[in-house]
Amino acid sequence: MVSIKSSREIELMRDAGKILGTAHNEIRDYIKPGISTYEIDKFAEKVVSRLGGKCSFYHLYDFPGNFCISVNDEVIHGIPSKNKIIKDGDIIKVDGGVEYKGYNSDAARTHIVGSVSNDIKDLVERTEKAFFEAIKVCIDGNHVNDIGSTIEDYIDKFGYGIVEDYVGHGIGTKVHEDPEIPNFRSTKKGIKLRNGMTLAIEPMINLGSYEVYVDKDEWTVKTEDGLPSAHYENTILITDNGPEILSLV
Ligand code: MF3
Ligand code: CO
Repeated sequence: MVSIKSSREIELMRDAGKILGTAHNEIRDYIKPGISTYEIDKFAEKVVSRLGGKCSFYHLYDFPGNFCISVNDEVIHGIPSKNKIIKDGDIIKVDGGVEYKGYNSDAARTHIVGSVSNDIKDLVERTEKAFFEAIKVCIDGNHVNDIGSTIEDYIDKFGYGIVEDYVGHGIGTKVHEDPEIPNFRSTKKGIKLRNGMTLAIEPMINLGSYEVYVDKDEWTVKTEDGLPSAHYENTILITDNGPEILSLV
């Protein structure tokens, strides 16, 4: 279960978040047509180690890469590959975990490469917006279900599919801690949110159906209908002054 962090732990969570947020900004500027997702991954690893962090997905879960890099209909957990070349019109989901002095951050971005349809632009923007709506209810005394309910209410009107098989989570000395944080309304209200809790909130939103499957590479999660998907995630801290986003620089 996610713990209430002490002020010393909060400092370390901030450091872990800052490394990842900084890395994401550098990766955003690095992405361009013609490079492979493998090159993006190598670049990500270089930046994270330069900043003093460790890529936790590789070190903790034996994920075959440093960051998960998922293109278009790949939702999450895409394996970086020399054969996957970025082209104009793609959307690239970059999802990373950083460990720093025993504390973790987890954050994902969806980058648009060149020109995409308005449908895709809207999907990416609204997925980000869903995160920012959700953190407004991350307040001491609210419950986990307030987060998913807020995301569902915001997303439903666009007719998108909300991924149900993968969820947000508590985070701290481990990348994944209880509680699970669904991006949709549940029948149970879940645990009470408290100041000092650190959470990874991560809407995964499909342009079409919510249904996904795991590819034969045993990692990559893809949309069943082949339509694109967007992902946006940050590690946040609940405080009396509202949520603090730790992994956004
Ligand atoms: N990115 C996932 C999350 O946000 C975790 C990926 S773990 C890995 O929770 F092993 F797949 F890399
Ligand atoms: Co996460």
